[in-house]
Amino acid sequence: MTTGLRERAAAELARTRERSIGLTDAVDDDDLVRQHSRLMSPLVWDLAHVGNQEELWLVRDVGGREPVRADIDQLYDAFKHARADRPELPLLGPAEARAYVRRVRDQVLDLLDTVELEGRPLVEQGFAFGMIIQHEQQHDETMLATHQLRQGDPVLVAPPPPRSRQPVSGEAFIPGGAFEMGTSLEAWALDNERPAHTVHVPPFFIDRAPVTNAQYQAFADAGGYADQRWWSASGWAHRQAAGLTGPGHWHGDGTYTRFGRREPIVSDEPVVHVSWHEASAYAAWAGKRLPTEAEWEKAARHDPAAGRSRRFPWGDEDPAPEHANLGQRHLSPAPVGAYPAGASPYGVHQLIGDVWEWTSSPFGGYPGFAAFPYREYSEVFFGDEYRVLRGGSFGTDAAACRGTFRNWDYPVRRQIFSGFRCARDPRPEELSR
Ligand SMILES: [Fe+2]
Repeated sequence: MTTGLRERAAAELARTRERSIGLTDAVDDDDLVRQHSRLMSPLVWDLAHVGNQEELWLVRDVGGREPVRADIDQLYDAFKHARADRPELPLLGPAEARAYVRRVRDQVLDLLDTVELEGRPLVEQGFAFGMIIQHEQQHDETMLATHQLRQGDPVLVAPPPPRSRQPVSGEAFIPGGAFEMGTSLEAWALDNERPAHTVHVPPFFIDRAPVTNAQYQAFADAGGYADQRWWSASGWAHRQAAGLTGPGHWHGDGTYTRFGRREPIVSDEPVVHVSWHEASAYAAWAGKRLPTEAEWEKAARHDPAAGRSRRFPWGDEDPAPEHANLGQRHLSPAPVGAYPAGASPYGVHQLIGDVWEWTSSPFGGYPGFAAFPYREYSEVFFGDEYRVLRGGSFGTDAAACRGTFRNWDYPVRRQIFSGFRCARDPRPEELSR
């Protein structure tokens, strides 16, 4: 690993830890050890788990060093204990957890200067460090979701997102044809984003912006939640069992609660906290459907003039503040039209940041998939149970968000920062023009 890579890894580790500390220092010890929702871990579990993964991969595997604390591995193994059971474990307390993650980090910074980083796929181009940075950022987003579920006075602050700079509405037409999906080049891309492969996508239309609160409200006002026609059988069963009448955190009176603040719903912001079932029902009501994952990625990355896929909708450069609403810079999605500089060559806006976008696709491996560095990263989740989400949210950090990045969750889940946009097949007369 070159000096530049070592410096980048150290800087990203530091920047990421600052965010984790901010999310955990914002609440008192009682709040840290409490479970705010059965869907989530106590915040103190996330913190020590982040340190434990860093210890397993960087201190022990990459560094070949003695364990910092071998006695706690099984407490922080996400596969051993369901989230709902984690509060009952003999977890490290807040002070112990903070001291533990600091000890691990000291070891990592020490070994980063000197460790041999040639000849093993795990360390090529700093992959293991990138993986651990992304892992911590992903837990930071999870902790942010826990903050949204937490009761009590607001503790997080951030400036409001930028206003809309241009009207964005309607659909973009994406002509049929092949494009390159996934990546073989992106150094810190995870196994499920690899390898790059050619996919032929038939022509389709896709919304130029995510579905907004006002659009979603129209669906609810039209009786969408009471009309079985728009719902799949499993979606309708879930709607009834869960008593859904609107997106998560909506109160039914034109207000919602965000991070402890009850506010009037902003009409032109992308709707957030909707399940895959709700997104699918809206799309059916609108005479559309959710995009497939390949459609989403083609609309986001394909550059028809250059005949190649970009890293991001706007080009190959890393996300800057004018491109996308990422990294918890703001505590909400930004209104549609707030990021014209982030639009794709097809004129599709806000694909990256703001809200995770549900696609119709189940989670699976690309042709030529190889599990790396372990099956539990992605492969054990492949199958029809999960649906893929794309693009990241306002709570996703740039280090953990690429044009190729894939997230997945159960169709009933909406504690994540999930929204969507619609797509549709062209009508015959639209193709013969
Ligand atoms: Fe984890």
